[in-house]
Amino acid sequence: MNNINESIIFIRRSIRSFIKEKKVEPEKVDILLRAAMQAPSACNKQPWEFLILDDEKIIDSIAPIDKHYVLAAKAPLVIIVLGNEKTTYRGENGLAWYPQDLSASIQNMLLQAVELGLGSVWIGTYPDEVRINGLKKHFNMPEHITRFAVIAIGYSEDKHKFVDRYDSSKIHYNKY
Ligand SMILES: Cc1cc2nc3c(=O)[nH]c(=O)nc-3n(C[C@H](O)[C@H](O)[C@H](O)COP(=O)(O)O)c2cc1C
Repeated sequence: MNNINESIIFIRRSIRSFIKEKKVEPEKVDILLRAAMQAPSACNKQPWEFLILDDEKIIDSIAPIDKHYVLAAKAPLVIIVLGNEKTTYRGENGLAWYPQDLSASIQNMLLQAVELGLGSVWIGTYPDEVRINGLKKHFNMPEHITRFAVIAIGYSEDKHKFVDRYDSSKIHYNKY
């Protein structure tokens, strides 16, 4: 087996300190978004949309919405991941499946960031009502677009570092 602690999946960590003045190059933003849209999604509905914040004033403006967004305001790039209630797959019970689709998309982005030499952190939004409603109001978003997550991205002095989370007690073979 290859040395797993060198693979991006194993070394990825949340990075919470950024060199704010060092912008993320547009080519890298493009690769991040391509990685995000490459994710699997229920019935291949791809119900994701992305609001990119690369203007310092606009990034700073989200900090007062919720204390968790103060961290995002420290980054030179913020990607707000959005779910489209109209295009999401819905099962027979009518429930939307976009949370899984968007989570897969975000994980692709976080891993791609490691490969591009960038740090990132997923700042939870859905299903917190203060954050969901705060972002909706702030960006004047339509009803069918759900604010799902805020991803802060940038260059950092902090390094990705492997921590072993393998836990055999969570694995069940053939019966529970
Ligand atoms: C749904 C979700 C919400 C999260 N929200 C926050 C947050 O608000 N602030 C934060 O600093 N980290 C947040 N994180 C990052 C987690 O704290 C982090 O992934 C976890 O502690 C494991 O550490 P690692 O990412 O370095 O492996 C969130 C992660 C997920 C998946």
